[in-house]
Amino acid sequence: VHLTDQEKEAIKCLWSQLDVGAVGGETLGRLMCVHPWTQRYFGNFGDLSCVSAIMNNPKVKAHGKKVLSSFGDAVNNLDNLKEVFANLSELHCDKLHVDPENFKLLGNMLVIVLSLQLGKEFTPEKQAAWQKLVAGVASALSHKYH
Ligand code: HEM
Repeated sequence: VHLTDQEKEAIKCLWSQLDVGAVGGETLGRLMCVHPWTQRYFGNFGDLSCVSAIMNNPKVKAHGKKVLSSFGDAVNNLDNLKEVFANLSELHCDKLHVDPENFKLLGNMLVIVLSLQLGKEFTPEKQAAWQKLVAGVASALSHKYH
């Protein structure tokens, strides 16, 4: 993805406002609620039996924070996402066997959570910039798949 200077600024500005733990947990939890098949990758996370179990599951929260923190590496390296995510791409492919289509679903879930958290502040311009970022991250994470 190519980001303009304005888009990069919009991404960094919004990132600095985020509570990474809260947004990350909400994003991963919603992914598991809305697209239940994604739960299959997290067999060791304990109780995922209903929406409230998922959304309050401490492992979901902790892992959501880890995943969103990793987005922070993207925000700090917007010009070379492929390099930043090369190792994680190999991990998700070779060890975790995660279908890369799920990266796009997670990105969309993140945009929805941002929209909920920021309301009208999440302007169309900001959304456009973030939509490009999540597409770039999904593509970088898929890069090493074979
Ligand atoms: C682990 C990032 C999407 C499944 C991880 C780890 C990171 C990460 C940083 C920890 C790696 C380590 O421990 O060294 C990301 C990012 C994503 C993403 C940035 C953005 C799109 C997904 C999706 C799924 C997934 C969509 C499945 C639906 C997993 C699993 C683990 C993992 C199963 C191992 C969890 C465990 O500790 O048991 N991911 N991930 N990831 N990821 Fe992802």
